[in-house]
Amino acid sequence: TGKFTYDPGFTSTASCESGLTYIDGGEGVLLHRGYPIGQLAENASFMEVAYLLLNNELPTAEEFEQFRWTITRHTMVHEQLATFFRGFRRDAHPMAVMCGAVGAMSAFYHDSTDITDPQQRMIASHRLIAKMPTLAAMAYKYTIGQPFLYPDNELSYTGNFLRMTFGVPAEHYEVDPVVEKALDRIFILHADHEQNASTSTVRLAGSSGANPFACIAAGIACLWGPAHGGANEAALNMLREIGTPERIPEYIARAKNKDDPFRLMGFGHRVYKNYDPRATVMQQTVREVFKAMNVKDPVFDVALKLEEIALNDDYFVEKKLFPNVDFYSGVVLSAIGFPTSMFTALFALARTVGWVAQWNEMISDPAQKIGRPRQLYTGPTQRDYVPIDKR
Ligand code: CMC
Repeated sequence: TGKFTYDPGFTSTASCESGLTYIDGGEGVLLHRGYPIGQLAENASFMEVAYLLLNNELPTAEEFEQFRWTITRHTMVHEQLATFFRGFRRDAHPMAVMCGAVGAMSAFYHDSTDITDPQQRMIASHRLIAKMPTLAAMAYKYTIGQPFLYPDNELSYTGNFLRMTFGVPAEHYEVDPVVEKALDRIFILHADHEQNASTSTVRLAGSSGANPFACIAAGIACLWGPAHGGANEAALNMLREIGTPERIPEYIARAKNKDDPFRLMGFGHRVYKNYDPRATVMQQTVREVFKAMNVKDPVFDVALKLEEIALNDDYFVEKKLFPNVDFYSGVVLSAIGFPTSMFTALFALARTVGWVAQWNEMISDPAQKIGRPRQLYTGPTQRDYVPIDKR
């Protein structure tokens, strides 16, 4: 009983205080610990951004070297996890595999799960950041029937991931610096985004004191949906289905038709009522990658034209619907060679940084309590049980 504020979808409820990420959706501003996303994407590495989100400040050269060394040291997963993978069907979606494999890590790392100890929390966080590329690459290798590759600690975080994904034991894999830089930037763009659905899920799961690896698995489950991280896969599938610019008006009409559940994937955002600053960088990254790799993909022309038509259409203008981070990311990921089914797993890999940083922030917050929303009850009032033969 009692009166509670009814806020379906939490459109106006702040669930916590946080010092990580600031968004001004009206102006299209995104800051991590005060630094604009554009500057970070241009100048920093994903590892630097990870350090920043976890530790509040950008690292000095020495701190960065120490952090990089620590993350590198944790890239291997327990050998038994390889056996665990073999329990999945070959055609399992990589996100299904990631939910399972990351959850399973809770059974392997007991020495970093006393969440009351800040040091153990940091070890669990480092392990998660370090092992996600290994698990994501394993999920991919498993579906195509190639052997898993062990991490190579000589390579950068992103270079190592590319090698584990696209390399084979029989050949030397040369990391393409253009691809490495582009993917690293994509990871930066996905690192954190304040209290989105998956981050709120991680916080809620963690608020009960649950195992951190299990909490991140919960975040992965939430991210998978097409309204959230699954939009990158759905957006590229949509663009490929549209196929040519001539067919765009048909899809725009469908998106506007309230009797049709179809939405323009990669468009619209709960918080941004202006251009998503991540989409700006993403579009630029597509151009850079295409130029450097000397590739073209008609899907990019479809995307550009679709954006142009939508941004000049009353429906999208009135509802303030702009391309979001997921609109162009699939175009780059596809050019790099990732199948669409891996897109959301890459999002999960990068967002793990935000998830663990937010989880640490929550647990060290003195105001922290178990998350326990209330409800407005709409069921029957009290009544008496009727035996089955009398109903
Ligand atoms: N295409 C057509 N109409 C749309 C779209 C779209 N992509 N997005 C929102 N609308 C309409 C919606 O029908 C509604 O119209 P009305 O007011 O007439 O009912 C209005 O715009 C507001 O939409 P909403 O669903 O109430 O807004 P929301 O804040 O609950 O949803 C969203 C935000 C991102 C789920 C939604 O815009 C959407 O479904 N977009 C497509 C999926 C997508 O790209 N998701 C990725 C989000 S960014 C990255 C991430 O979070 O992972």
